[in-house]
Amino acid sequence: MNRNVAVENQASLENEPLYRKYIQPMTLEEKAAQLLQLAAPFYDKPGGHSEITGPMEELGIGGETVQNAGSVLGISGAEKMIAVQKAHLENNKLGIPLLFTADIVHGFKTIFPIPLGIGCSWNPELASRSAEVAAHEAAVSGIHVTFAPMVDLVRDPRWGRVMESTGEDPYLNSVFARAFVEGFQGEDLTGDVSRVAACVKHFAAYGLAEGGRDYNTVDLSERQLREYYLPAYKAAVDAGAEMVMTSFNTVEGMPATGNRKLLRSLLREEWGFDGVVISDWAAIKEIVAHGAAEDDKEAALKAMMSGVDIDMMTASYINHLPELVREGKVEERLLDEAVLRILKLKEKLGLFENPLRGADPAAEAEIMRCTEHREVARQLAEQSAVLLKNEGVLPLRQGQKIALIGPFADSGDILGWWSWLGDTETAVKLGGAMQQLAADPGDIVIAEGSGIESISVAQKDGALQAAQDADVIVLALGEASYMSGEAGCRSDIRLPEAQLELVRLMKETGKPLAVVLFNGRPLDLHGVYDAADAVLEAWYPGSEGGEALANLLYGRSNPSGRLSMSFPYSVGQVPVYYNHYSTGRPFSAAEKEKGNRYISKYLDIPNDPLLPFGFGLSYTSYQYEGLQLSTHEMTAGGELEVKVTVTNTGSMTGTETVQLYVRDVAGEVVRPVKELKAFRQVTLAPGESREVALTLTEEQLRYHHSDLSLSSDPGRFRLFAGSSSRDVLEAEFRLV
Ligand code: GLC
Repeated sequence: MNRNVAVENQASLENEPLYRKYIQPMTLEEKAAQLLQLAAPFYDKPGGHSEITGPMEELGIGGETVQNAGSVLGISGAEKMIAVQKAHLENNKLGIPLLFTADIVHGFKTIFPIPLGIGCSWNPELASRSAEVAAHEAAVSGIHVTFAPMVDLVRDPRWGRVMESTGEDPYLNSVFARAFVEGFQGEDLTGDVSRVAACVKHFAAYGLAEGGRDYNTVDLSERQLREYYLPAYKAAVDAGAEMVMTSFNTVEGMPATGNRKLLRSLLREEWGFDGVVISDWAAIKEIVAHGAAEDDKEAALKAMMSGVDIDMMTASYINHLPELVREGKVEERLLDEAVLRILKLKEKLGLFENPLRGADPAAEAEIMRCTEHREVARQLAEQSAVLLKNEGVLPLRQGQKIALIGPFADSGDILGWWSWLGDTETAVKLGGAMQQLAADPGDIVIAEGSGIESISVAQKDGALQAAQDADVIVLALGEASYMSGEAGCRSDIRLPEAQLELVRLMKETGKPLAVVLFNGRPLDLHGVYDAADAVLEAWYPGSEGGEALANLLYGRSNPSGRLSMSFPYSVGQVPVYYNHYSTGRPFSAAEKEKGNRYISKYLDIPNDPLLPFGFGLSYTSYQYEGLQLSTHEMTAGGELEVKVTVTNTGSMTGTETVQLYVRDVAGEVVRPVKELKAFRQVTLAPGESREVALTLTEEQLRYHHSDLSLSSDPGRFRLFAGSSSRDVLEAEFRLV
């Protein structure tokens, strides 16, 4: 099993100043300690605020090891970081500074919508700006590395972590992956101490957990892995992400954290990634629980041979690597290379010259949730919301009496699972924001109506009373933030029954009913979608969410979000995604009409999702016409231009996302019925028309063949342009 792993030769190591200065004098124990990442409690002093994001257990790690550890997770606060770093340097014999890491996934103090919401904005520039703001707030608080972006492709809304992803499409996820990395890191990570290093996660295919159950088995072909699940990680690596985090799951039967094919052959050798690889929390030790190592020692061996540099929160490396080297089972040079990659990252961050880097108590006091940052959050929250239904109820009109009812009517739990230092107390709540925007605050009557998972007679009575004089009922419903996120998986993805009861009760009043949803996943909207006259998907909109939603509800902003993940008809349909294969017996209404039983369908539900990828309504309407291609024959290495004219046929300015899809009609392997290849947002005034041009290249038609080669095939292609993966104009072209 201990096949020699290619290691750089001695000469290349000895050419490295960091090697000569720090690594050569190190003992094996000190080298192993540099690979250790400890959570904040190991550095906690009274008054600290540290984040625990995984199971804490006694690691049996003593003071000297802590003094030699390479990095820490979950410490924030300039003063605290400065104190910890100074104490560390006083005790660390070699004077190597600590690397401070944390999960800043969608905001630090200014919290942005959850990434699934940001994915629905189709606005990578604004996403990048949100990452830049998050980086700045984190950097002045002493953070050096963020464990973001999470770019796992997701197709199963039962999985709690879909909220952390930008959705089901490899191309859209790649666009956002690049945008987030560029926002976090900027152009010059050494010179610009307002940026932080990005750590793309979770490598790889974590979102395919069977049954949508977190940490469950993942098993897929290498072709599927490369075709769908890897592109976004590759985009992040190509954008210069400094770190990659391994995932908890298996890939081709091997835990990702001990998977040499995935981490060395593919990530390092094929992709040329020379940054730091960190395990997810305890994932090295968990190789044993997976059944791929007898004990921690074998787990440490597998992880090191696979190229994992940092051991997050287990003692596997610290307890076993020195012994493995002494036993000749691990070449010391492998250990040296891992330490060198970590020291190079510290050097790139400027920590040897300035161990405190961007930590700045004065700046911290000044920029957290400053007006400029809040404005970015509000804008992104507005653009992340998706109008799923609207039959004449929205936008609300000034002067209308509104009954705002539901557990989210005035709730601060609108930040989402990964909002760490976000403050639910100061988050802008929907009720207060609507009262501020209404001509008369008294026009907005607020009632809780129900809890998240319970409803009382008093709450029902209060709801009926609030609704009594209302012109419109706005129900603010959803999942508590603990009902998604890590280990937040649900088998039944409807709203809790108590809230469905509230919907029925309010429906019986006969009054116009608008529903605003706060949730971390596409829901099964049975009991909501049909009952409501309007449905606005808010996701967890972040610290400015209330204001953003009030603006949308009152029409100060026009919803422009488009779904980046399908809403299933019901959980029984899952996984349901737009870029599926045709099958040999594809469903068609005609075949069903003929009573053909033997086609791919259910007896009890439709095949199509309730709402498809790319879908979203507006307060205005758009017409697509005049689809034309610059040519109907594309050559190898060539491209064609697609033009379509979009007209705002409504009465309100709006932003439309023009989407371009293709279908490779016959491939060497089966090909999806649609694949997103380009998109462009256009803002149109009422009556305004715009010819929108999008380019499609032959390179974008390349796919992984059965032998994993990447190429396109001459032949017929269908091309689609429109407002969603369902609502499109169609044309054809040939690749010759
Ligand atoms: C968690 C998550 C990962 C996070 C890490 C550190 O278990 O899986 O996304 O970055 O631990 O908090």
